[in-house]
Amino acid sequence: MQDIHTEIVHVDFSHPESAIIERAAKMIREGDVVVFPTETVYGLGANALQPSAVERIFAAKGRPFSDPLIVHIAEEQTLEQLTTSISASARKLAEVFWPGPLTMILPRSPLVPLLVTAGLETVAVRMPRHPVALALIRAAGTPIAAPSANRFMHVSPTTAQHVYADLHGRVPLILDSGSCEVGVESTVLDMCAPVPTILRPGGVSIEALRRVLPNVQLAVPKHAAHTESGTDDETQYASPGQMLTHYAPAVPLLLFDGPVAAMRSAMLAEAKRRSAQGERVGVLIADEDVPTFQESGAVVHSLGDATNPQQVATSLFASLRLLENAGVQVILCRNFDAAGLGLAIRDRLLKAAGGHVYECS
Ligand code: TXA
Ligand code: MG
Repeated sequence: MQDIHTEIVHVDFSHPESAIIERAAKMIREGDVVVFPTETVYGLGANALQPSAVERIFAAKGRPFSDPLIVHIAEEQTLEQLTTSISASARKLAEVFWPGPLTMILPRSPLVPLLVTAGLETVAVRMPRHPVALALIRAAGTPIAAPSANRFMHVSPTTAQHVYADLHGRVPLILDSGSCEVGVESTVLDMCAPVPTILRPGGVSIEALRRVLPNVQLAVPKHAAHTESGTDDETQYASPGQMLTHYAPAVPLLLFDGPVAAMRSAMLAEAKRRSAQGERVGVLIADEDVPTFQESGAVVHSLGDATNPQQVATSLFASLRLLENAGVQVILCRNFDAAGLGLAIRDRLLKAAGGHVYECS
């Protein structure tokens, strides 16, 4: 891929400057790609209805065509163009959770290129709530297909600087509105399955979804099927985005789970053992664990208050990048409770760990 100049342009979060939005929208209309902020992570967008534009997304990311994209919309009416049928349940969820971090898998209309859906007869649709994303989609006058704006297999970007590190020379324009509020990607909910099934936990919790649709279930990701014991509301379900190596950190991540005290002492012992061997160790913990690791010899970084999953989610991807850039050779990371956003945090950590968990007791 030829090196192109990458420009970062700051955009006001709540009152996006119309000249900047119009310039970016024109690029989308003309078939180019633009990186824009959403409330979850930054997205790499192109006109969803134009296959040659969508191709540029895959080229810039180095993403295989077998991984389908989410189509972003700004008005609910656009759904009529993108899908062939919208169930009462889907309408209800849209009413409650849009705009917001919920992606619904719906039957694809012929208007949506198969390149977007990786040949599937379903399409993923979401209405983001970030004012810049909404303004861009509206000004472009077309739905925008966008994956997370990282290089394929790397951690999703939550700042424009993360995007620049991964994609400079490969995208012309990055709209910068600072850090993303949610910090983990949207919840992907399959509304074409026999019962609504979460393919990827994310910014909308399963508890919140069940308050609207009590039968929502959680798919067991293929990579997790052997490491976590199933509960009765989990079923085996194949989904394209749930690859074991979804995110391969530049350095290996070892994930520790179990009661907090046991987790801490196992991590501390491992950090000391490796440091003694001359290894540069990174430790990813919560505020409450910090005193334990003061003399561990490791590069210690806290994800925030363990009882506040929103805070941990917001800092998760930035913290992984921070430790990568600190030049550590291994990251030891603690796990978090599954309640609320915790389910998404656990999912991303499990992926980062390549599916392996150290159960501490
Ligand atoms: O928060 C987000 O969802 C961000 C922002 C930019 O909106 N986007 C994002 O896109 O995370 P991406 O491409 O990194 O992840 C999209 C996920 C993948 O796991 C993909 O496999 C799944 O959605 N997906 C897309 N279309 C699908 C379909 N038709 N059926 C099943 N899964 C689908
Ligand atoms: Mg992604």
